[in-house]
Amino acid sequence: MKVQPVVWREGVVAMLDQTQLPERVVIEEFDDWRGVAEAIRQMKVRGAPAIGIAAAYGLALAARNINAPTMDAFRTEFDAICTAFAQTRPTAVNLFNAIERMQRVVAHSATPDEARARLLTEAHAIQREDYEADHALATHGAVLLPDNARVLTICNTGALATGGIGTALGIIRVAHQQGKLAHVYACETRPRLQGLRLTTWELLQEGIPFEVIADSAAGLLMAQGKVDAVLVGADRIAANGDTANKIGTYMLAVLAHYHQVPFYVAAPESTIDPTTPDGAHIPIEHRDPSEITHLGAIQLAPAGAPAFNPAFDVTPASLISAIITERGVYRPPYRFTSVPSTQG
Ligand code: MRU
Repeated sequence: MKVQPVVWREGVVAMLDQTQLPERVVIEEFDDWRGVAEAIRQMKVRGAPAIGIAAAYGLALAARNINAPTMDAFRTEFDAICTAFAQTRPTAVNLFNAIERMQRVVAHSATPDEARARLLTEAHAIQREDYEADHALATHGAVLLPDNARVLTICNTGALATGGIGTALGIIRVAHQQGKLAHVYACETRPRLQGLRLTTWELLQEGIPFEVIADSAAGLLMAQGKVDAVLVGADRIAANGDTANKIGTYMLAVLAHYHQVPFYVAAPESTIDPTTPDGAHIPIEHRDPSEITHLGAIQLAPAGAPAFNPAFDVTPASLISAIITERGVYRPPYRFTSVPSTQG
C-alpha cells in the first residue's frame, strides 16, 4: 500500500487521519483551508515535512476561495491565512519554509488567477522535492549502518510524516532492502504514541523485523549492547546543528553518547534553519496536559493532577554523530549558513 499523508484531489485536500491509525484508515477531504489548519493542529497530519506539505496545499486551496478584485486585496487576505497556518504548530520549520515559499509565489504573481495557478504548482513542487529528498538521504544514510544493523528509533519518521519514504525510517527501509538491517527497536513515543501506532504500522507493511519498546527500555538495550545506531528525525536543525525532535530524543542521545552508540539525525535540507543560531532559540511546542493524563478518552491520572507536556526537546550538536540530508552526510562541527535552495 502506498502511504501518502496528504494529496491534492480535484480541488480538495485529502488527508489520511493519523489520529485514527492503526484502528481505522480514514481519508478526510477538506474543501476549506480552515479544516486543513485545524487538522495540522490536531495532528491528523504530523511530522515536519508532512506539515509543510499540508500547509502548502491548504494555502493553494485557500487561494481558490479568496474573492478579491485586486492583487493587493488578494495578497492581504492571503497573508492573513498564512498567519493562521503559522500558528498551528511552532517547532517544525518546514511549516514556515512552506508558507514563505507560497508567499513568494504570490509576491511574484501579477493577478489573482496567476497566483492561484502558481500556488498549486508550488505545493506540488514542495511535495515532489520532499519525495526526492527522502530517497537521496536514505541512500546516504544506509551507507553509515553496519551489516546486520540493530537500529533504535523514536516517533514516526516514515512515509506518514513526509512526501516520500521517510527520513530515519526511509534509511531503515533502504537498509532493509539492501539486506543489512537485522532489527528495529521502535520507541512507543509517549504521549501521542506515534512509534506504537504509526511506525509499527509502517514496519509491518514493509515486513521489517522490529519490536516496539517502552521509551524507558532504551537504556537497558544500549547497556546490553543490542543497539548499533540510533536514527532519529528532526523538526528543526539550528545553524550550529542543535536539533529539535520529538520529546525523548535528547534522552536517547545522552544514552547513546554514554554507551558509545552512533546517534544520527536524518532530515531534508528544508528542516535546516540557518536563521536560528542554536537550540536555545528553537520554539518548543507545549501541548494540552490531557495528552499525558489521559489515554484517548480514558482518564488515567487522578482528576486535577497537573501535567507538563512539551512536544519536543533539543539535542545539542555535540551529541550528534552525523546529520544526514539529501545532499550527503554532515559531520561535526556543524555550521549551516545558507538558506536551503527553493523555487518560487
Ligand atoms: O509531533 P509530531 O508527530 O509531528 O513529531 C514528529 C517528529 O518529531 C518527527 O521525528 C519529525 O517531525 C521528523 S518526521 C520525518
